[in-house]
Amino acid sequence: MSKVKRIKGFADMFSPESDTFTFMETVAREVFGSFGYKELRTPILERTELFKRSIGDETDVVQKEMYTFDDRKGRSLTMRPEATAGVMRAYIEGNVNASEQISKLFTFGPMFRYERPQKGRMRQFHQINCECLGPDEPHADAEVILMLMTFLTKIGLKELVLEVNSLGCRECRPQYNEALRSFLANLNKEELCEDCRRRMDTNPLRVLDCKVPGCKALTESAPTIIEHTCETCRTHHDKVLSTLRTADVPFIQNDRLVRGLDYYNRTTFEVVSNAIGSQSSVAGGGRYDGLIKQLGGADVPGIGFACGMERLALMLGEREVVQPDFYIAVLDENGLEDGLMLAQTLRLAGKTGDVSFASKSMKAQMRQAGKKGARKALILGGDELAAKTVVVKDMETGEQTTVSQSELIEHI
Ligand code: HAM
Repeated sequence: MSKVKRIKGFADMFSPESDTFTFMETVAREVFGSFGYKELRTPILERTELFKRSIGDETDVVQKEMYTFDDRKGRSLTMRPEATAGVMRAYIEGNVNASEQISKLFTFGPMFRYERPQKGRMRQFHQINCECLGPDEPHADAEVILMLMTFLTKIGLKELVLEVNSLGCRECRPQYNEALRSFLANLNKEELCEDCRRRMDTNPLRVLDCKVPGCKALTESAPTIIEHTCETCRTHHDKVLSTLRTADVPFIQNDRLVRGLDYYNRTTFEVVSNAIGSQSSVAGGGRYDGLIKQLGGADVPGIGFACGMERLALMLGEREVVQPDFYIAVLDENGLEDGLMLAQTLRLAGKTGDVSFASKSMKAQMRQAGKKGARKALILGGDELAAKTVVVKDMETGEQTTVSQSELIEHI
């Protein structure tokens, strides 16, 4: 019989890889909780329109990477390629801004993008995502970045570079777009890719985000946004940077950082690593004032970020295996039930371990105890069953002692 295989770019995740993910989620909950964030779980499927209206029609994500299909009633649905749009929809639909001025929300889970799979790039990948909705002050931007860097440090990642830029706002972006359009108009259009030839009119900022090497090279000397930002954006940006300095968060200013999604304005940032190959961006985010309004909600500003868990996991490597406290070996079938009950007593007392389900040879069971990495092997033979005792073998020293089952917990 032929086997059913998993889909390209989708992964199964066994332990210890799944332990790394659990570890990241645990630390994230702790760190985000300490900053006052609460968890929000949103659906994986959303109406396609949501992503088109937020991420932007001209982005690679919307044009080439979404898993979109019609449901049985012919409605176009999309498997979320990122979390922000769904969080905004939930926030608007839940009328959250009527009850709180600032909402700090985090979301974990799988995202879907039809990209070419490679190391650190999957079609189903996982994000840890945070959004801070309400404040437009630069200190909120600094706090979000500080929280991201605190999280990354707490999971043990230090060799990372934080890049920061400002993308301007509704007021100053049009002037920048004009400057960019005239720069692009002077290039040899034939050398740009087909997408960029169109984007230079519809959404010139996207040309700067094109991954085609030829386009990248051609736009190297393009004007930067930072030279065209308005006074308000500049003051905002300066305050973000000075607050990061005060908080001792190292960063570099990257005036080429435009991000791949259309909703950003003002502060944008990315955390990059050169330890994981070409997919170097491990986290990214920014401010998106106007997005909630654009999606039919109130005019609430917001800022947030997402980390790619697969990329963080590549840098973290495998977690140390946690040693179980015991492995119970039984001499024959008569001991199986007592073994199970003994294990249950130990587990209820907070100990971890396994019990043999079958009376294999003692040698095989000891091998199993070793393979599991148990600290102690507990042997239940006929004598022990009769006397309500158990032989405790220290797996490191090999030392064996017989103890009463009622006092066992003190010996483990
Ligand atoms: P993004 O930069 O598109 O931003 O994705 C954030 C992170 O997700 C990336 O830095 C990367 O680590 C990871 N990532 C993206 N695509 C893949 C993939 N195909 N395979 C593995 N990892 C991937 C956003 O998604 C925004 N929603 C972030 C945000 C939240 N901005 C404001 N709030």
